[in-house]
Amino acid sequence: MIYIKTPQEIEKMQQAATLASMTLGELAKWIAPGVTTNRLESIAREYIHDNGGHAACLGYGGFPAAVCWEVNETVVHGFPSNYALREGDILGTDVVVEIDGFHGDMCYTFPIGEIAPEVMDLCVTTKESLYKGIQAAREGNRIGDISNTIQTFCEAKGYSVVREMCGHGIGKHMHEDPEVPNFGRRSTGPILKNGMCIAIEPMINLGARNVVIERDGWTCRTRDRKPSAHYEHTIVINGMEPRILTTFDYIKEALQQRYI
Ligand code: MF3
Ligand code: CO
Repeated sequence: MIYIKTPQEIEKMQQAATLASMTLGELAKWIAPGVTTNRLESIAREYIHDNGGHAACLGYGGFPAAVCWEVNETVVHGFPSNYALREGDILGTDVVVEIDGFHGDMCYTFPIGEIAPEVMDLCVTTKESLYKGIQAAREGNRIGDISNTIQTFCEAKGYSVVREMCGHGIGKHMHEDPEVPNFGRRSTGPILKNGMCIAIEPMINLGARNVVIERDGWTCRTRDRKPSAHYEHTIVINGMEPRILTTFDYIKEALQQRYI
């Protein structure tokens, strides 16, 4: 069941999405070589709480953190730990904020100091594929148009698309219908209608597409242990011009010339 949101509900989604965006902007100020993801997790929790939000991932299906921490080969759903970030790492930060019963979901992958050019290119391409997918999210198009746009763009550059994890509808629940895969055929799947809210989130691998789940039951990593990048926005279908509720602007402001 796909729920179309009212303008009032979309404004609540916007509030949640803005706090999610500000949270990643705050994290951007702290993310650096030597910092542990445990430390970053406590910064995020405090920030969300102090700004009147609820960290929706914390306790979701038993997930133990406010943010999913995705270091290098971790694709999604990593736990915070005492691992200290190192120059050359990449760190995906995936956060969901709930305010007044509605959710905003986003992810950004940060380079830590100087990173290998091939890994930088993976990140740039993954972020670009997100915006290309968003441009395909027009009224009257289908989910498969978003999926195929992301897949063809990333595969043309030699990367592989994770298939086990998808984007999703979002609203009163973090995960709603429809599923938004990052691979698929054009003109297939549910038709996009104005007021539908979806989270688009390409998860793209430098090596093979295969992933495994660690024994903790959550952490998803590439089977070949090569890096994976992940960017995500929450958007609303709005005619030819999708409205992007989350933003990377706060990250850009914090990172200045280090922003990619
Ligand atoms: N942003 C993730 C997603 O899109 C959040 C899920 S993490 C969980 O699905 F722990 F909450 F499940
Ligand atoms: Co999501």
